[in-house]
Amino acid sequence: MAEAQRPGNGRLAGKTALVTGASSGIGFETAARLGEEGAAVAVNYRSDEEGARQAVGRIEDSGGRAVAVQGDVSSEEEVRRLVRETEQSLGPPDILVNNAGTQSERPFLQMSLADWEQVVSVNMGGAFLVSREIIGGMVERGGGVVVNMSSVHQIIPWPRFAHYSASKGGLKLLTESLALEFASRGIRVNAVAPGAIATPENEEKLQDPESRASLEALIPWDRVGESAEVAACVAFLVSDEASYVTGATLFVDGGMSLYPGFESGEG
Ligand code: BGC
Repeated sequence: MAEAQRPGNGRLAGKTALVTGASSGIGFETAARLGEEGAAVAVNYRSDEEGARQAVGRIEDSGGRAVAVQGDVSSEEEVRRLVRETEQSLGPPDILVNNAGTQSERPFLQMSLADWEQVVSVNMGGAFLVSREIIGGMVERGGGVVVNMSSVHQIIPWPRFAHYSASKGGLKLLTESLALEFASRGIRVNAVAPGAIATPENEEKLQDPESRASLEALIPWDRVGESAEVAACVAFLVSDEASYVTGATLFVDGGMSLYPGFESGEG
């Protein structure tokens, strides 16, 4: 792809990015988009090697550079290894997207400690471990950008998903605290908060007409979003066009976080 034809006019050329959980859904589209914008991308996956290979293939087809790196972001040891492998293949990342996430539905009184720990240790613990491993190098090099993949549930409470919403609420303050801690070192840290997006994770719910309708009723824009619409926002935030944006959360939710129950003006 010629530079001028790349999305964003190749604004990420010369940069190196690590995207966690990039073998499907929003992570896949984000890795692909950053690669198409010119970044060399490490596509992290835990178990879906084939998905990661496809993301790598899409970036290579656009003329970019990418590698797949395996590793579970909730394991300190695996994070150390996956970051080392990223650095050996592509050099130290200028851009980190903490995207890896998981969710499960559990009524609170039936939530085991293992359920809780699994969700919190991937969604929040993963962002902690990978950021800690990468930000040191960014400090040494005098700059970098981090985007954490949050959710509308960083502000919207979600019954039966208390572990998930707690993890996303935590991610909000992790984002803001790191933004403050590293502003003087030239490192921007932001979050993207998607609403309901058509991803493999949500496929079952979206295929059932009744659940789809009740979900759409919560979206003023009247439709679920696409992963590519989230990826475009991540690409903006990691680019120099967002050079004065830090500690922010960009909601990509078709208005879901705007209290849609108030849409008719009653109150
Ligand atoms: C979840 C989706 C859910 C959406 C809106 C997201 O964080 O991953 O499953 O549909 O929030 O509730």
